[in-house]
Amino acid sequence: MNEITTNEYWRLETYDDNIVWLHFDTPGSATNVLKWDALDELQVKLKEVVQKHPRGLVILSDKASGFIVGADVHSFAQIESREQAEQALSRVHKLFFRLESLGFPTVALIHGFCLGGGLELSLACKYRIARNDDGTRLGFPEVRLGIFPGFGGSVRSVRRIGPIKALDLMLSGRTVSGRAAQHMKLVDLAVPQRQLKAAARYIIHKQPPQQKPGWLDQLANSAPLRPALAWYLRRQVAKKARPEHYPAPYALLAHWQHHASHPREMYNNEVKQVADLIMGRTAQNLVRVFQLQERLKAQGKQSDFKAQHVHVIGGGIMGGDIAAWCAFKGYRVSLQDQTARQLGAAVKRAHTLFKRKLKKPRLIQAAMDRLMPDVEGHGLKRADVVIEAIFEDLKVKQKLFAEIEKQAPADALLASNTSSIPLQQIAENLQNPQRLVGLHFFNPVAQMLLVEIVSSEQTDADAAQKAARFAKDIGKLPLPVRSSPGFLVNRILMPYLLEAVNLLDEGVPAAAIDEAALQFGMPMGPVELSDVVGLDICLSVAEKLSGFLAIEVPENLQKKVQFKQLGKKSGHGFYRWEKGKAQKEAIDKDYTPPLDIAERLVFRMFNECVACLRESVVEDADLLDAGIIFGTGFAPFRGGPMHYIKSQGVSDMQHKLENLQQQHGEQFTTDKGWNALS
Ligand code: NAI
Repeated sequence: MNEITTNEYWRLETYDDNIVWLHFDTPGSATNVLKWDALDELQVKLKEVVQKHPRGLVILSDKASGFIVGADVHSFAQIESREQAEQALSRVHKLFFRLESLGFPTVALIHGFCLGGGLELSLACKYRIARNDDGTRLGFPEVRLGIFPGFGGSVRSVRRIGPIKALDLMLSGRTVSGRAAQHMKLVDLAVPQRQLKAAARYIIHKQPPQQKPGWLDQLANSAPLRPALAWYLRRQVAKKARPEHYPAPYALLAHWQHHASHPREMYNNEVKQVADLIMGRTAQNLVRVFQLQERLKAQGKQSDFKAQHVHVIGGGIMGGDIAAWCAFKGYRVSLQDQTARQLGAAVKRAHTLFKRKLKKPRLIQAAMDRLMPDVEGHGLKRADVVIEAIFEDLKVKQKLFAEIEKQAPADALLASNTSSIPLQQIAENLQNPQRLVGLHFFNPVAQMLLVEIVSSEQTDADAAQKAARFAKDIGKLPLPVRSSPGFLVNRILMPYLLEAVNLLDEGVPAAAIDEAALQFGMPMGPVELSDVVGLDICLSVAEKLSGFLAIEVPENLQKKVQFKQLGKKSGHGFYRWEKGKAQKEAIDKDYTPPLDIAERLVFRMFNECVACLRESVVEDADLLDAGIIFGTGFAPFRGGPMHYIKSQGVSDMQHKLENLQQQHGEQFTTDKGWNALS
């Protein structure tokens, strides 16, 4: 090496062979993000590179986590006007054009995450080389933030790999491994770590022809075929997202359909479209959701707790799946139940999970080896996390915890997965009740990201921190909540579900109720959701909550359970279920559903949100929004219930609630907390 120059983000190294290596290394961060000032500095560095008249340029990252995780999402939230957005995007376009037009070979050397703006930067290089492992992930996650690639990526990806594969990546937001990226020609080469640098030198010396899509892909990009392909893709997108809720995928398809014949025009249109999307409500709210998620991920970071062995007691639906999840995440797990038969079913489900997630027999076997059925409960003595998930019975839980306390190591975290029993009651027989926390997982465990970290007044802050740390380490989002009936998520979800049952009682067809909720933006209607959760479980939570809150348990829900019509699991609930699908009857053409269905559903929820904030069930409105979005799927593009209330105007919303009370009854009685909202 004969020369090094370093700035804040980028470091240039030049070797005797006159190849320049440009290292990206964001100070004080584990990942590289394309912040505006890192991009400005890149511009300066490129000038320096050009002055050296190098044989070639290699752009690489010094971070172990990967190449570049994308543009700076937080800076999107700070953009104040459309003009500002356009200017910012145009600046990056200019920079990437400069990179693209350099008169010598340029190589992006990719390992780990190469996402969004990072992938766009690499596409402006003449060549891309990726590490050939599964941990190297390339993709365009922009659509999840309500936009599409805006640093020239919508043009360059189509140019490199053709519209079918490029649009699939941009519309789905999915990532591909280094090897898969080579297969689809997104990268030129995929090689093991030890060969990365040699491969970069080789490509610079050889300068092979640059990647181009095959003839079929070129045909798909031709003007006569684009409308048909765009039409087909729009139909696919419509199955997942409505244009009025999520405009970005539709905007991307129109952008491609109308501008793909003229690259220059397509670059300009990309800037305009993405600037529009950035300023739109959906993207602003999805960026907010991203930030809320970051906040949840940061919970528990003060604790350096590192669990090795998890002991789960109760191998039913929840305990079995929690144990499987922990084993999947690499922990040693012992699973205790009263009989081996019970455990057999749990182990079988775990095997299915491992097969689906891990695919390779060697990894599946290793996960199975980590999960130990343990009828005798030997694992308890070695555990550093004990999770109780036996059936919901206070006396039995109290007795069990007294036993656990005697046997588990003194510093083990003791947790209950109870969904409705106040923690302080479960802790009544404990010598050290401050050790007990709630780790409230949601069903299905493998899919639901949120875990409520429940603290009673007795719970030690340290124990709650440890629990949050553990939840984060197993890949979940911890939400600290106070121990009160239903905690946060079930308490807020229940009035919403019960209002749906009231509507059914009034003769509104189930399909009309669900459709109104979908139109509002819920991922699944409340009637279908009740059937999926199980009507017996809904009834039991509703009955428990009705002891504390002004909730009336509808008679038709009790009847359904009496007749063993429990929903999806019994094949019949509010819907009939066939092959795992609700059989929704078409709504009579002459029937006009009431106009306020969605309003009735969501205002029950909103009123309970306000009550929870007033009672400090959760620390603040942002955490509440995070909990409801990740715990119930509440329309993410609306930014969360409290954010939605504020964006609509608190007094207008309160007024609507008062009207609902006059029309439909006491269940809409305005909570006192509304007056304290500003
Ligand atoms: P479940 O009835 O499917 O499983 C309970 C298991 O505990 C059974 O296998 C039973 O044999 C075992 N068990 C009972 N007493 C035991 C003891 N003394 N020692 C060892 N094993 C014992 O119940 P599920 O649905 O898994 O619920 C468990 C806990 O999780 C409850 O507290 C429930 O409130 C909570 N929960 C349930 C959710 C759900 O959707 N089912 C969601 C979130 C929490």
